[in-house]
Amino acid sequence: MGRLIVVSNRVATPTETKGSAGGLAVGVFGALKDAGGVWFGWSGDVVSETVANAGPMLEQDGAVTFATVGLTRKDYDQYYRGFSNATLWPVFHYRNDLARYERDEYAGYRRVNAWLAHKLVKLLEPDDIIWIHDYHLIPFAEALRSEGVTNRIGFFLHIPFPAPQILLNIPPHEELVKSLSCYDLLGFQTATDQQAFHDYVTRHARGTVSADGIVEAFGRKLRTGVYRIGVFPDEIAEQAKRYESRQHVLELKQSLEGRKLIMSVDRLDYSKGLVERFRAFELLLERSPEWRGNVTLVQIAPPTRSDVATYQKIRQDLEYEAGRINGRYSGLDYTPIRYLNQQYDRWKLMSLFRESQIGFVTPLHDGMNLVAKEYVAAQNPDDPGVLVLSIFAGAAAELSGAVLVNPHDAIGMCEALQRALQMPLDARQRRHEINMAALREDDLGVWRDSFLRDLRSVPVRRSGEGGGHK
Ligand code: G6P
Repeated sequence: MGRLIVVSNRVATPTETKGSAGGLAVGVFGALKDAGGVWFGWSGDVVSETVANAGPMLEQDGAVTFATVGLTRKDYDQYYRGFSNATLWPVFHYRNDLARYERDEYAGYRRVNAWLAHKLVKLLEPDDIIWIHDYHLIPFAEALRSEGVTNRIGFFLHIPFPAPQILLNIPPHEELVKSLSCYDLLGFQTATDQQAFHDYVTRHARGTVSADGIVEAFGRKLRTGVYRIGVFPDEIAEQAKRYESRQHVLELKQSLEGRKLIMSVDRLDYSKGLVERFRAFELLLERSPEWRGNVTLVQIAPPTRSDVATYQKIRQDLEYEAGRINGRYSGLDYTPIRYLNQQYDRWKLMSLFRESQIGFVTPLHDGMNLVAKEYVAAQNPDDPGVLVLSIFAGAAAELSGAVLVNPHDAIGMCEALQRALQMPLDARQRRHEINMAALREDDLGVWRDSFLRDLRSVPVRRSGEGGGHK
């Protein structure tokens, strides 16, 4: 079996993969450890041109090499802050209204992809398989192919793939899809995302999709598949229980004084539906006075991409809403919304989830949403909380034990909260069991292994086929 090469915009450090890093980092690292290989990507640092060109920095951990490069200010601005996060991210999350398009940024995005690919080529061996992650790196395989790389290359999109009419808002949409067709295998979070890609291929690229899932477009052939990213539920359950008597949990319990707790955790991103969520909570207090003073919403929202203007705006909006609602319903000893712009240790979060009666996860669009899955896994089966989940999270297709809501329907969300707060134990347990069974069936290992199995089964190209596979 060849080595595995993982490429992602951000690379976890060796220490993070052993500690409390997000599930994805742990899952990917597990596969790297088994096969041996390289994890390659941006170090997260903005550096001078000399330092950037001197990379990659290599760090060895057993059979795994962590290889990272810094980005220059211009590369960071155009590739990361610009085209990735001010064009692709909003459009792929159906927020054309928040997107901008600058030719320079797009050129920078392609330039950085080509530069990163060139750096990686030197680390490759002939029978390596290469797994590229997420929207920052759409043109990566094309760049590798143009350097003559014939290895199998797969791509997994962690965010939604938009319907063609939405994608058309990005002027070089055709080039982007053409770049995607340079992969051997494309993985999506849900059947809806896969269908949207197929729709683009057939309606806008004169391509075909055969019954056995082979896509032919731009003179190339590739496979697509749905791989639902998951968590390791039993590990989360165990850790959440282990942390339940720690200081932070005791302090939280004490401060709640018996009030019910609703927990939400998201990066501070406009795709997460935070303002809509706060308003639904406000409506609960407005419509049901018996809940005033008796329920608290804890929203943990670490800031992210804070040098992108749209992210500054959502932060302001949310601060305003939290202040307004708290001004309206606080008492001398009661604050309805506790809004924290901090990053919390993952195991701490799991133990807080375990203490709460509701996990309130209401994105306007989300590839999967692992917080929803973590919330379920962290519950105490003897007295589980209820997951109130947006129909627009990829996880909604799997977690049929959740109370599903449309985040645009404030009254609907408020009613769902009420229902969840009053749900009897046997109904909560039934829903929890259904959700846990779904998590166990499609855990993180299944996601990773099925993608890699499918990628390994793609026929190898002959050399000379690097530039475009027929
Ligand atoms: C999303 C994306 C990831 C990204 C993460 C954090 O989950 O799908 O690719 O790494 O957000 O975003 P950031 O811009 O901080 O890397």
